[in-house]
Amino acid sequence: MREVFRGRDFLSISDFSALELTYLLDSAVELKRRWLIGEPMSILTGKTMALLFEKPSLRTRVSFQLAMSQLGGNALYLSPQEVGLGKREAVKDVARVLSRMVDGILLRTFDHYTLLELAKYSSVPVVNGLSDLYHPCQVLGDLLTIKEKKRNLTDQKICFVGDGNNVCHSLVEAAAVLGLNLVVSSPLQYRPQPEIWDRGLKKSQATGGTIVYLENPEEAVQEADVLYTDVWTSMGKEEERETRKARFARYQLNEHLLSMAKDDCIVMHCMPANRGEEIVDSVMDGPNSVVIDQAENRLHAQKALLALILS
Ligand code: CP
Ligand code: NVA
Repeated sequence: MREVFRGRDFLSISDFSALELTYLLDSAVELKRRWLIGEPMSILTGKTMALLFEKPSLRTRVSFQLAMSQLGGNALYLSPQEVGLGKREAVKDVARVLSRMVDGILLRTFDHYTLLELAKYSSVPVVNGLSDLYHPCQVLGDLLTIKEKKRNLTDQKICFVGDGNNVCHSLVEAAAVLGLNLVVSSPLQYRPQPEIWDRGLKKSQATGGTIVYLENPEEAVQEADVLYTDVWTSMGKEEERETRKARFARYQLNEHLLSMAKDDCIVMHCMPANRGEEIVDSVMDGPNSVVIDQAENRLHAQKALLALILS
């Protein structure tokens, strides 16, 4: 099975099949176990990954940097000012030059098209570290977290409340590929993009999953096993913040919505959070919250990904 991953890009969750995602998550469980007992690993000795960021990051940057070093390789962080992707230099030139020097490229970018362009001209694997459309590495860590906390992925009602954004899109893809039960609740105007939603719906019919949109958050969260939210204003949309705060008010993950989910539901947030907007302190820090475990799992899930595509 390992061989099928070698040299592949990871731009969205649907780049991998259900079997491949399951294999990857099982590898992550094993790598986490080995990390917990302090076992040194040299799976990526001599390999280097370039980490290109056009936006800020804590979790993605730190977890990829550590993932590489813990597997025996190196990571090279390149800030927006240094590279000027598509501004100082054409994306295809950056792709072709980096491909001669490093073994993999991570990109966090505004426009998903930039990632597609980079991947097209790179001869080494390209990984999506967040674009306007998707955040697939986040969702790998999320799936690992749900698996750990709830034992299985398929019997859970996963409810995403908030903006139909990049994280939500990757959850839709994960639900479709793996046949999960996902309910998305957002204001009509901020629903997930129709093409992504429709593709997800079609695929979920084949995989036995259910993907449902409900405008009413109170209806959506009923008996949920997993309650997930993300910021209402993603990076790059800051000028819309005040409008969004007003439009999303009733989608706030607070004690009221939490009380309608199952007692043992887990609360997830990809972070960073705007406390007091999409989530309140008492829920973010409360007994149902798994947000810090979720953040840690980025490291383990991405180690599994890198070990498979770069080795
Ligand atoms: N969740 C996430 O991707 O966090 P950062 O933006 O800090 O990388
Ligand atoms: N939706 C958020 C995710 C941050 C990790 C954003 O794009 O800013």
